[in-house]
Amino acid sequence: APVTVKKICCIGAGYVGGPTCAVIALKCPNIIVTIVDLNKSRIDAWNSPDFSLPIYEPGLVDVVKEARGRNLFFSTDVDKAIKEADLIFVSVNTPTKKSGVGAGFAADLNYVESATRRIAAVATSSKIVVEKSTVPMRTAESMRTILEANSKPGLRFDILSNPEFLAEGTAISDLFSPDRVLIGSLQTPEGLDACRSLIEVYANWVPKERILTVGLWSSELSKLAANAMLAQRISSINALSAICEATGANIDEVAHAVGRDSRMGPKFLRASVGFGGSCFQKDILNLVYLSESLHLPEVAAYWRQVVIMNEYQKRRFSKTVVDTLFNTITNKNITVLGFAFKADTGDTRESAAITLIRDFLSERAHVTIYDPQVEEAQIWYDLAEAIPDTPIEQIKKQVTIAPNALDAAKNSEAVVIATEWKEFIDIDWKAVYDTMNKPAFVFDGRMILNADALRQIGFKVKTIGRGEKI
Ligand code: UDX
Ligand code: UDX
Ligand code: ADP
Repeated sequence: APVTVKKICCIGAGYVGGPTCAVIALKCPNIIVTIVDLNKSRIDAWNSPDFSLPIYEPGLVDVVKEARGRNLFFSTDVDKAIKEADLIFVSVNTPTKKSGVGAGFAADLNYVESATRRIAAVATSSKIVVEKSTVPMRTAESMRTILEANSKPGLRFDILSNPEFLAEGTAISDLFSPDRVLIGSLQTPEGLDACRSLIEVYANWVPKERILTVGLWSSELSKLAANAMLAQRISSINALSAICEATGANIDEVAHAVGRDSRMGPKFLRASVGFGGSCFQKDILNLVYLSESLHLPEVAAYWRQVVIMNEYQKRRFSKTVVDTLFNTITNKNITVLGFAFKADTGDTRESAAITLIRDFLSERAHVTIYDPQVEEAQIWYDLAEAIPDTPIEQIKKQVTIAPNALDAAKNSEAVVIATEWKEFIDIDWKAVYDTMNKPAFVFDGRMILNADALRQIGFKVKTIGRGEKI
């Protein structure tokens, strides 16, 4: 019979584990939820008295305020939380491997493996172990093998796959009313019982018809497929944006017309400087790697093209900036507004802004950056990582971080919109214009500004996906 879950442990207090399990605690007052992490400063931030949480996510503070100390706890005592829990979410990071077999493609499962081994080592009672991080297919199988090979007699481990579909910036509303919750299990009596236990947790707030149950492998593949197809939509629209710019068509009008087809739907069709975030590229590369290891080279090539198109879009945009600024930006001041990979997050993983700035720096421009949420230290960290052969002191000579958009734009030749922060729409663009060198250019990589209004002020404006005269 299914176990009634009373205590949950979540291993990994990052962008996925933190918000997900905080919402579970909020919605399930009868379950004690402990989120653990090896990173002490991260846990300290989750526990901070003034709620200066380690991640920025609209609505998250309110959730933590209500649940923390009631039935939601953050701790570095991983072993204790594992021991006490009936159900354990594994939400550790799974970055793309940087070296060894599959480097640049395959996921680094080191963190998943060590968390799994820890569970096997310290558990003194049976557990339901839930894979929550996005992982390559068959990870659940590896986890099961590790747990079974290392557990004590009389203990059962049931593995579930329960991929998270939240998007950053809207994580809390996504978690409050998910399109679906997906649970994969072995189709054995024990597997199905474990699945029922987890369904009961979500049933506290998610309508039952939105909880989908499938086999383990379908669940793992569905997560990769969803991200790959979302990213593919963006690469498709971005490929069309290049045609628009060359012909005079308008990508906004095209996307609107296409999206009206109910078979297509209107969402996720915004042309941009390229997609970023921790998931899209990583998951597609996982799919490419998987296809290749299954000897399906055509399938691999098909998905790889989504990433190639994204790289092309970023390169195409930085080239447009250079070409438009009379074919050189050497010693010119370029202002980049936005550093996060999308609005309403402080997350910078795979952000298109990083690639653009790297390109500008390699042209020996001076770049001034402003982002409302990303911390200065994070920007330096990302630039140092993106430009490994240049010492950070050298990078710092070429880059300034500004406290607001107006300061950032002072004395620059061009303002580049890299992230669609709402506040960039409401900037006093006249004041910006007055402080800039002339001719003053705006490159809108996110289609958020009113180009005609800016032209009235005197700007030369280039918007992604529009072929009109600047
Ligand atoms: C994504 C998936 O949406 C989510 O379901 C999954 O759980 C994790 O990966 P996330 O990466 O947080 O979420 O954000 P998302 O809104 O999907 O945006 C990803 C990137 O695509 C961003 O850089 C965004 O700016 C870009 N994007 C999105 C576009 O360029 N155009 C669009 O129309 C939508
Ligand atoms: C298509 C467009 O749908 C229509 O809007 C346009 O005006 C003309 O082209 P049509 O070719 O008549 O219409 O049929 P459609 O239903 O789109 O199917 C096209 C092909 O795709 C068929 O061979 C169909 O079997 C196949 N298909 C469609 C699939 O294999 N899977 C699907 O999920 C849908
Ligand atoms: P995601 O976006 O997938 O949530 P993050 O990097 O934001 O990824 O979060 C993953 C978290 O998991 C990190 O804070 C990391 O310290 C933590 N972590 C990784 N391995 C372990 C482990 N074995 N035990 C506990 N925490 C871990």
